[in-house]
Amino acid sequence: MNNILVLGGTGFIGAHVCEKLVRQGWNVTVPTRRRSNANHLQHLPSLTVLELDVHNEAALTHATQGQDAVVNLVAILHGTPAAFDKVHVILPQKLARACQAQRVHQLVHISALGANHQRPGTAPSEYLRSKGRGEAVLRTAAAESGMELTVLRPSVVFGPEDQFLNLFARLQKTWPVMPLAGARARFQPVWVEDVATAVVRSLERRVGPGLRSPSVRTLEACGPEVFTLADLVRLAAQLSGVNHGQGRPIVPLPDWLGRLQALLLEWAPGGPLMSRDNLDSMRVDNVATGQVPGLQALGITPSALQPIATDYLTRNQPGQGLLRLRQRLR
Ligand SMILES: NC(=O)c1ccc[n+]([C@@H]2O[C@H](COP(=O)([O-])OP(=O)(O)OC[C@H]3O[C@@H](n4cnc5c(N)ncnc54)[C@H](OP(=O)(O)O)[C@@H]3O)[C@@H](O)[C@H]2O)c1
Repeated sequence: MNNILVLGGTGFIGAHVCEKLVRQGWNVTVPTRRRSNANHLQHLPSLTVLELDVHNEAALTHATQGQDAVVNLVAILHGTPAAFDKVHVILPQKLARACQAQRVHQLVHISALGANHQRPGTAPSEYLRSKGRGEAVLRTAAAESGMELTVLRPSVVFGPEDQFLNLFARLQKTWPVMPLAGARARFQPVWVEDVATAVVRSLERRVGPGLRSPSVRTLEACGPEVFTLADLVRLAAQLSGVNHGQGRPIVPLPDWLGRLQALLLEWAPGGPLMSRDNLDSMRVDNVATGQVPGLQALGITPSALQPIATDYLTRNQPGQGLLRLRQRLR
């Protein structure tokens, strides 16, 4: 049985990745800042939860000891430039050194569509700029050490626990209208299970059309359809039956008002719902560039959003949609 360390394994995508890895026979270790964050993973056999600070390089290096591969899914969506740098750039630097020290041969790093390792500074937001710098750090380290590196760049990810369609549905249940910044921004949503499959297949060193070299490779993870943000807000309402499926009237906000709304939402109780940096990310369409291979290169046919989202948005209980879907897929 091979050993794998999954950083960010407690998160939305990470939990799906861990589940697939366990099913494929991997011995999975998941570091977390708080053990209780991993409660939903405890049922998985051959998975060990490790409470540690991944930013502590000595602890991280120790955790990589004896691992055959590492997956990195740690990221933040909101924060100061220093916080983005710490999580998206300095952590990959530490991880690369840890992998080199412990002779870990394979790393799969989850970045984001819109990140650019060659010219990180050209990206529109601090989130994407720091993601690009993180990719660059890992590519350099992989080239120097011979470690195999796969970088996956997903568009927005949908699934039963997403903070995206679920959020739009929830907001429309309480708000009479939907004031929407970036209403015309375009996305190519990808199913969380397809992203998790891409991680597993990257570890299996699959090669496909346009994907030859197993040493350093970058893939875009996108779904089959392009939607505007306004389309997605409407769809979330329709599928979750808000206002008899008609949703709330969408009021597209001009730039200045959108930024003011984002500023207020940065202070929302329980953590930001939206930030000015998120708005900056949306200045560029979040759709496949086609300049690097897509999921098809790993033998994955990306799933359409509507049938899957219908299943979980119609459930009130979080997670029930996933269970039903799994039962159907069995
Ligand atoms: N979700 C999307 O739509 C989407 C789209 C494009 C790209 N991505 C990328 O995919 C990856 C996974 O995304 P996700 O949505 O699954 O993220 P998530 O649910 O927010 O999970 C992030 C994970 O990172 C850990 N983490 C968060 N902040 C941290 C910090 N400051 N220090 C150390 N660990 C921290 C958390 O672990 P603990 O709390 O257990 O410590 C958590 O498991 C990220 O790289 C993200 O940028 C996601």
